[in-house]
Amino acid sequence: MTTTLIRGGTVVSATGSAPADVLVDGETIAAVLQPGSTLLGTDIAALVDQVIDATGKYVIPGGVDAHTHMEMPFGGTFASDTFETGTRAAAWGGTTTIVDFVVQYPEQRVLDQYQAWHAKAAGNCAIDYGFHQILSDVQDESLKAMDELIAEGVTSFKLFMAYKGVFLSDDGQILRAFQKGADNGAMMMMHAENGAMIDVLVQQALQAGNTSPYYHGLTRPWQAEAEATHRAIMIADLTGAPLYVVHVSAKQAVEHIATARDRGLNVFGETCPQYLYLSLEEQLGAPGFEGAKWVCSTPLRSRAEGHQAHMWQSLRTNDIQMVSTDHCPFCMKDQKEMGVGDFSKIPNGIGSVEHRMDLMYQGVVSGQITKERWVEITSTTPARMFGLYGRKGVIQPGADADIVVYDPQGHTSLGLHKTHHMNMDYSAWEGFEIDGHVDVVMSRGSVIVDSSGYIGQKGHGRYVPRGLSQYLV
Ligand code: URP
Ligand code: ZN
Ligand code: ZN
Repeated sequence: MTTTLIRGGTVVSATGSAPADVLVDGETIAAVLQPGSTLLGTDIAALVDQVIDATGKYVIPGGVDAHTHMEMPFGGTFASDTFETGTRAAAWGGTTTIVDFVVQYPEQRVLDQYQAWHAKAAGNCAIDYGFHQILSDVQDESLKAMDELIAEGVTSFKLFMAYKGVFLSDDGQILRAFQKGADNGAMMMMHAENGAMIDVLVQQALQAGNTSPYYHGLTRPWQAEAEATHRAIMIADLTGAPLYVVHVSAKQAVEHIATARDRGLNVFGETCPQYLYLSLEEQLGAPGFEGAKWVCSTPLRSRAEGHQAHMWQSLRTNDIQMVSTDHCPFCMKDQKEMGVGDFSKIPNGIGSVEHRMDLMYQGVVSGQITKERWVEITSTTPARMFGLYGRKGVIQPGADADIVVYDPQGHTSLGLHKTHHMNMDYSAWEGFEIDGHVDVVMSRGSVIVDSSGYIGQKGHGRYVPRGLSQYLV
């Protein structure tokens, strides 16, 4: 059992910041101390096994990325990060917990898939991990499985209003699943896009010869997201289930979420770095097939329409509660390339698990959010939202010692050949410069990243069963 003192830093939490030393005993935090505290007249630094100097740095709870897809079978291929490569990349970037999605396709048994995800992750992860469950075939067996999964610590379930024949549930199926969620306390998660509208627009675009990645964005308009978001909220209202809308990108969808919250409903929204920084015009509209790098759904939105600015604002006002990556990486070669000549065949997804903490810190630098809000939206709220709080998302005695020492004077260049450790042959963030740096990452008391780089171990990460959401009103 190693004891560690992280001293000289400023502990930043969701509610405030103060100079403090953090004492770690084994896997957990033992104490948060006045700077320079002594024990019976002896400097605590002299009593511990190791001291980490955090002078001039921020000491924050490790990032919790509540939306990843490692090795996800999707779009005729698999997301290119395994649990090994993806969690290692997450560690590099200061994320110490992920919540990944178990996928159930139609005809598959939910509980078989849950076991399959355990088999993929066990012994391979650099950091701790939990699971959500995707339901794409809501019938009696899957509803029963929801109860069993809650007992296993899988307390949230994602449904889709798009991807007909793959993931899509009709409104009756959604209603039934939400009724179950209202009954057993599960958080119901929704991919809110009107799939029927999108499918027609895609066919019309292809028939007109509009095959480039840009048309991925044009055929998934904000109206399709806003309509589906509103419909999901109505089903949540009718059933009483809590609702978490994933990867929100349209300002009109945020407005529906905000209205629902003003009415007192347990309705929440997540956005992702790509919807805060990237756009339909600049990235999806890149020349040739280049835009394929940024094909994801919901799609990047028009900057001219003001979606990005509204997303930042909604993070300040808490109309949107948190930021996840929706990490779903694909290589250009052999994967994104499947969609040359037909944008609808480009596998949907962007890889960012390594960069979320940095990208959101840049929002502190640019004055969009405070450093306390940075910690809240990347760590504390994800932990509370998905039943991990107390153990994750906070620096306090008894919590897991998942801690990041972040240097606000440091610098990080994002890009394939710079800081990139994800299993991708490109970076969606090429050329982004961050005024900050992840210096040290500790996972359950073990330093897994320091100035020498990644020093963690495959298999250190453990499955974390989750409780019910701690964010409900
Ligand atoms: O494009 C995306 N978002 N890919 C991952 C699957 C999903 O819908 O979250
Ligand atoms: Zn989705
Ligand atoms: Zn996703």
